Amino acid sequence: MVIYESMFGDNQEVAQAITAGLTEGGVVAEAVEVGEAPGRLDEDVSLVVVGAPNHAWSIPRPATRQTTADAADGPLVSQGPGVREWLRKAHLPTGVRTAAWDTRGSSPKPVVAMDHASSTIEKRLTKLGGTTLTPAEHFTVVDMKGPLEPGELERAHAWGVTLAGALHPTT
Ligand SMILES: Cc1cc2nc3c(=O)[nH]c(=O)nc-3n(C[C@H](O)[C@H](O)[C@H](O)COP(=O)(O)O)c2cc1C
Repeated sequence: MVIYESMFGDNQEVAQAITAGLTEGGVVAEAVEVGEAPGRLDEDVSLVVVGAPNHAWSIPRPATRQTTADAADGPLVSQGPGVREWLRKAHLPTGVRTAAWDTRGSSPKPVVAMDHASSTIEKRLTKLGGTTLTPAEHFTVVDMKGPLEPGELERAHAWGVTLAGALHPTT
């Protein structure tokens, strides 16, 4: 299950690309907006991949979501509680493998280096009992409202294929 939070649609696109990559790698996968994600995942879920944008260097908070809604021209993709809230109460299946991603700007580099949404997601998934399958991944947006930089969706797709290979190694 690929769970995402997204304001302007970039993480939604990344989630769909990861899902397509997982599918190509032979894993039955679906992308789910975090508001639609069950609090208790079915025991047959073997991999949970979770992603969100960096807001003020971390996973969105209610205040940063409100700032975003105020600045947006239209409705946001994710409008309710997000990944931060989901990770507080989620019940993961026994033995589940996990992976995390985030989106972030590209500059200034020393500031972007402080972004930790994906590492926070990774740590929380581990606290919930998951085992990290591969290190967290980052995807870059051109501007606050996107779009993703050229090539990022292809990289997200390739990461999905990599996750599938790590989940079901052939050798
Ligand atoms: C309130 C707010 C705070 C942000 N803070 C950061 C930040 O600390 N670091 C960063 O790289 N990008 C930051 N951004 C840019 C977001 O990462 C960008 O909007 C997001 O990746 C787009 O993904 P989405 O379309 O799925 O929401 C911020 C954006 C907003 C709206």
